[in-house]
Amino acid sequence: MSSPLILVNLKTYKEGMGNRAHMIAQAAQAVSQESGVTIGVAPGYIDLHPLCHHFSIPVYAQHVDGCEPGANTGHTTVEAIRAAGAAGSLVNHSERRLTIADIEASIRGLRNQKLISVVCSNNESTSAGAAALAPDYVAIEPPELIGSGVSVSKANPEIIKRSIAAVHAVNPNVRVLTGAGIQSGECVKIAVDLGTDGVLLASSVVKSKEPAAILRDLVSKL
Ligand code: G3P
Repeated sequence: MSSPLILVNLKTYKEGMGNRAHMIAQAAQAVSQESGVTIGVAPGYIDLHPLCHHFSIPVYAQHVDGCEPGANTGHTTVEAIRAAGAAGSLVNHSERRLTIADIEASIRGLRNQKLISVVCSNNESTSAGAAALAPDYVAIEPPELIGSGVSVSKANPEIIKRSIAAVHAVNPNVRVLTGAGIQSGECVKIAVDLGTDGVLLASSVVKSKEPAAILRDLVSKL
């Protein structure tokens, strides 16, 4: 397995925008360099280009539309996030659900631009469906645990195991992340020991007064 990915979604938290987005990216870059673990951030669009410009860690969009550049209004194309310097994008986060056709178009657009697709899912059936579209990653996040402070690794390890099996039965090349309530090195270790390729998380890092300390703990058992 390649090195696990720790992907921090800054969502639209006020603690994850502007100067705070830079501070979290700075902490992620420092901890990544110390530990050798890949740590990425997914800021809002306004902060996407500045973070790509100032930091060497992978920066992801939180959503991308699958439409072609041209006469669209209020959309963000794959070409636009690529020009901003993004490494890839989340797709179908539970706070930004899409139709199956939209998900397919976003994945296809990302693949065509050689960017990484991270498709979020809520259970093993949707994980299998997402895997059929051949994204780079499927990220399984039980919605009821998102932002709860209760870790999926501890509360529902079975859904992680079943989702990995469901994804790999459809496409063994798709990597699997898990998320919801991830907050410590122990949570990350459980997720990786269960067979995931890393974690997707938000509040424990973004809302912390000391994001670097949380990030150091997250990578401490890898
Ligand atoms: O995208 C990550 C996410 O939905 C999990 O959020 O706050 O439970 O880590 P959180």
